[in-house]
Amino acid sequence: MTTAAETRRVTNAADIVETDLDYITTHAGNELARLSGRHLMIAGGAGFLGYYLVQAPLAWNAANPSLPPIEVTVLDNFVRGVPTWLTELQSNEHLRLLTHDITRPLPVELGDMHYLVHAASIASPIFYRKCPIETMDANVNGLRFLLEYCLAQKQAGTPVEGMLFYSSSEIYGDPTPDSIPTPETYRGYVSCTGPRACYDESKRYGETLCVNFARQHGLPIKMARPFNNYGPGLKITDGRVIPDFARNILAGQDIVMLSDGSARRTYCYVADAVIGYYKILVNGRSGEAYNVGVETPEISVIELANRAIALGKELFGYAGRVVRGESSDKDYVVDNPSRRCPIITKARTELGYDPQITIDEGLRRSLVWYSGNRAASEA
Ligand SMILES: NC(=O)c1ccc[n+]([C@@H]2O[C@H](COP(=O)([O-])OP(=O)(O)OC[C@H]3O[C@@H](n4cnc5c(N)ncnc54)[C@H](O)[C@@H]3O)[C@@H](O)[C@H]2O)c1
Repeated sequence: MTTAAETRRVTNAADIVETDLDYITTHAGNELARLSGRHLMIAGGAGFLGYYLVQAPLAWNAANPSLPPIEVTVLDNFVRGVPTWLTELQSNEHLRLLTHDITRPLPVELGDMHYLVHAASIASPIFYRKCPIETMDANVNGLRFLLEYCLAQKQAGTPVEGMLFYSSSEIYGDPTPDSIPTPETYRGYVSCTGPRACYDESKRYGETLCVNFARQHGLPIKMARPFNNYGPGLKITDGRVIPDFARNILAGQDIVMLSDGSARRTYCYVADAVIGYYKILVNGRSGEAYNVGVETPEISVIELANRAIALGKELFGYAGRVVRGESSDKDYVVDNPSRRCPIITKARTELGYDPQITIDEGLRRSLVWYSGNRAASEA
């Protein structure tokens, strides 16, 4: 399928960001318009998903100068410093950066927010296994501070209009074959003590907290379950497969496969995913979780590598191949789901979520974006 978004071929990293922001502000235009004149706080806004979550409302402001702007506050612990893209936006009068650890009580200077997004958690398996307790604290204690804030704001007569908690497709664990593709109603097949449990179980408990704050206190809390998002903003050092492949390709090295490459996934380009997140934040039902991803194609990691190699060849004359390597992380593949693929009917029918960017186009944009963004701190 060739889409309108694909017909405009992109040639450098800046073009890609511009094309993607155009696409997001068009397809989430109604939702961003609902945020007009409102204060939006994005916790974890310096991270991968923050890259477009933060830039999209600022791009919407620029495209709609006659409408009241969306005021964006990014709250992040900036453990690895403020990323360059965010430093470059610092002079934007509608953006405020607050350095804060979400596991601590919220800072008073936060003020009255209308919309909240909780994306402040380590998301890369390589890194959450190194910091399991911090990961749990962010998803449980950090979430609790935000939910209590929503309750206090309601009691003070300045209610929050929407809050989005980032859960994960990992809450399903390693689904049984008859539950793939996976709908939101699947209850999960998850280890509570394995090396990924710090992440999976804290997301599960986080969802339970959200559902009960929504029900007991009548608060507009919604949840997203992302399925393998990738693309601009995901640091080349993140440790997830697509940036790892990009790193190999751009260095002219063979692609090093750290597993047997048989795990099957669908991969959702971040511009499509961010549209989904804004739709949930604004129009999602309270106390409800929505899968955000794509349903096809479900491909193995080897197939993904081969597609990346073909694009690397076309874009940069890459001549590498796939070779087998060993991860220094002994738990690299422990409890790693063998298949992961969502059913997205709920978001499609309730919210009009309709991802359009194909895997080849998304990979192409990612590789070009990485070619302009090769430098990143080792996370
Ligand atoms: N990217 C995906 O495909 C994916 C899939 C499933 C779930 N998610 C969830 O989406 C959210 C965002 O993911 P991402 O890929 O952008 O992650 P990321 O690691 O790139 O970004 C997370 C951001 O949160 C900040 N952060 C972490 N702990 C913090 C704390 N205690 N206090 C304040 N800031 C803190 C980090 O500094 C970083 O800027 C996470 O909750 C993640 O679990 C992402």
